[in-house]
Amino acid sequence: MPHNRGMDVLFEASGLRKRYGDATVVDGVSFAIAPGECLGIIGPNGAGKTTTLRMCLGLTTPDDGAIHYQPPGGGPVLHMPQDALAIKAQIGVVTQFDSLDPDFSCEENLRVFGRYFGLGHHTMDERAPRLLEFAALTHKAQAKPGELSGGMRRRLSLARALVNAPRLLLLDEPTTGLDPQARHLMWERLQQLLQAGTSILLTTHFMDEAERLCTRLLVLDQGRTIAQGAPRALIAEHLEPDVVEVYGAGALALAQEPALLALAARTEVSGDTVFFYTRAAHPLLDALLQRPHLRTLHRPANLEDLFLKLTGRQIREGG
Ligand SMILES: Nc1ncnc2c1ncn2[C@@H]1O[C@H](COP(=O)(O)OP(=O)(O)OP(=O)(O)O)[C@@H](O)[C@H]1O
Ligand SMILES: [Mg+2]
Repeated sequence: MPHNRGMDVLFEASGLRKRYGDATVVDGVSFAIAPGECLGIIGPNGAGKTTTLRMCLGLTTPDDGAIHYQPPGGGPVLHMPQDALAIKAQIGVVTQFDSLDPDFSCEENLRVFGRYFGLGHHTMDERAPRLLEFAALTHKAQAKPGELSGGMRRRLSLARALVNAPRLLLLDEPTTGLDPQARHLMWERLQQLLQAGTSILLTTHFMDEAERLCTRLLVLDQGRTIAQGAPRALIAEHLEPDVVEVYGAGALALAQEPALLALAARTEVSGDTVFFYTRAAHPLLDALLQRPHLRTLHRPANLEDLFLKLTGRQIREGG
């Protein structure tokens, strides 16, 4: 591996670049993923997350850059595009939009995928029920995707991505559209996979998901990596520890009051909310007590704040 920074590397992308016409939508993105690690890519709509994942899979051809896969336990390093088939055999994918076959039942969807990977009937007789159980879909084995809820379809997509027992999962917004309970179930399943040594590369618009699942994050904006690191380390590096959010009628006017601004290290406005970032919130909270008509929320800084600061944009869901 050319850029192995002392870490055990399973998959590495270096200097990925993709242009469509005059626009460079991925502009020199590099990362490495260790076995059992979850790397998250976050960034606004159109940042280049899906394009990056598609290049990792060989579905989109990069204009520049290199992709390698290092088989765990040794063996020759595999390179895209010449070893695409061998690399893809080690990868499972959940695409941003479901690509399940609507004419087949849940079980048949898994079996069809098994055939792509050359898995025989016997293997699938054993694997399909196990995967349906893992996806909590045993009771829906004979149902077609159109008869499932959105959360069930997402779990079926995950089960299908696991058919070939992949070493690396590429998950493009795996929990978008899921209710809180379904998200927790998905997170629990992903944690199980990580603990079993599977690596995950995921994109998400949910900062709580990124913080909970990912060992490291890559923040993309307009195709470029604008920050990377462990979630808590990124927060500590870029943000003051305390946030006071103020919203309600007239809140935006606060951002024009020098006396209040002086009580915060930094102030951001997003939508109808003013965010005050500070190392000592109490003087500011005391001052806000004089304005009981406004809603005030005092909390620790989180990844949403980091996102807001680095991309200057609110998080929006989906494409
Ligand atoms: N096949 C294509 N042809 C032309 N432009 C494309 C193509 N695919 C993607 N793009 C452009 O590349 C940019 C990045 O798209 P991409 O789908 O990678 O973003 P994303 O970060 O996944 O966004 P989202 O959060 O909305 O899913 C966008 O401006 C998009 O319009
Ligand atoms: Mg996308």
